[in-house]
Amino acid sequence: MKILVVGQGGREHTLVWKLAQCPGVEKVYCAPGNAGTAVDGENVNIAVDDLGRLMSFAKHNDIDLTVVGPEVPLVAGIVDEFNSHGLKIFGPTKAAARLEGSKAFSKEIMKKAGVPTATSKSFTRLEEAHAYLEALESTVDDTVEHVPIVVKADGLAAGKGVHVCRNCTEGKAAATQMLQDGLFGKAGQTIVIEEFLEGQEASILAIVDGDTIIPLESSQDHKRAHDGDLGPNTGGMGAYSPAPVVTEEIMDDIIRRILVPTIHTMRVEGHPFSGVLYAGLMLTAQGPKVIEYNVRFGDPEAQAVLMRLKTDLAQILSLAASGRLAELEGLDWDERPAVCVVMASEGYPASYPKGRVINGINEADRLTDTKVFHAGTTGKDMQVLTDGGRVLGVAAMGDSIPAAKQAAYQAVEKIDWDGAWNRSDISDKA
Ligand code: AMP
Ligand code: GLY
Repeated sequence: MKILVVGQGGREHTLVWKLAQCPGVEKVYCAPGNAGTAVDGENVNIAVDDLGRLMSFAKHNDIDLTVVGPEVPLVAGIVDEFNSHGLKIFGPTKAAARLEGSKAFSKEIMKKAGVPTATSKSFTRLEEAHAYLEALESTVDDTVEHVPIVVKADGLAAGKGVHVCRNCTEGKAAATQMLQDGLFGKAGQTIVIEEFLEGQEASILAIVDGDTIIPLESSQDHKRAHDGDLGPNTGGMGAYSPAPVVTEEIMDDIIRRILVPTIHTMRVEGHPFSGVLYAGLMLTAQGPKVIEYNVRFGDPEAQAVLMRLKTDLAQILSLAASGRLAELEGLDWDERPAVCVVMASEGYPASYPKGRVINGINEADRLTDTKVFHAGTTGKDMQVLTDGGRVLGVAAMGDSIPAAKQAAYQAVEKIDWDGAWNRSDISDKA
């Protein structure tokens, strides 16, 4: 089998690395890829949103399966295009990808499905949004110092579209920035205002073929830049799997009350969902609630979760893309936990320099049960250079979460470039 992975981050390097190890896989290409995918697979210089050239490449190179990493091409309809040309592809159609592409649509589906989530309301008109926020404030008892409220841009905003506001005034300012001042452009022409949820976050990724749902092991991301969950939001500074907060009982609850009704409702509404359903959850005192849906593997969750997967990933994704997941007899996992620490460029998540020489990757990679996943890297003259904000995901397995953490940080110690930094507390919440 020949596979094309679309994307260029740590998630895609993980997919390429894992797929290349599957027995039936002859070759894995990655478009456009990074310095890591060039080693574990072969890079093809085509951008993730160049649907025409991606299709033409798949056709002319007898690609048996295309696997899409990022949300942007999915929301743009890459799956519909490939399908209409008879090319097999793993991922949701454009209509189904709205679960991530439009928070208002996603909320609508959750409401119809009776899925537990933050109470919310969507707005396109600023006056109505402001009136709603004022009404909310007037219902709050004076003794409460502040009511956090969450204002979100409807569309894709590269992870920056969520504003957690401390009170009505901040909420109104966020609504004004999005609806009136054009922050986030088109993505912010509709906003969702919702209740703030308290608890621990967890990510559940499930492989779906429109009907059958196969949940993967749980994981937890670390979205804030600094130790102790302080600092600005990022794409994710590290992850571990499994997340012990997701007990067997909670997992059953997530499947029964969240995953099943969502997939059922998508089918009933005429948008059967195939691909990865990623439920970003808040484990609240009232049980798990959905913060948001994504329609792809999480990054860096994929690094920690897929490192532990023993079942043939190419077979899983191929069956899912053919609507035949029911043929799979469950998944086999390495019982050992995995921890992935993201190493980032100086300045990230704000602007950062590129082109710094990275040393020590091979030394780190040689450690047992350790893998250095490339994210923002590029190769030049036999050297690996930084080429993004999140540069590497250094992952390791161990007999316990602390052992996996120690192994991952031991590998991090071996790697260096000018300005490199990372959180030092990945997995401590476990
Ligand atoms: P998102 O971009 O939707 O992943 O949101 C980014 C982060 O904002 C989430 O991981 C949460 O930490 C936080 N967040 C979003 N919505 C809520 C909510 N309703 N209550 C509490 N935190 C939230
Ligand atoms: N780790 C967060 C995401 O993939 O959206």
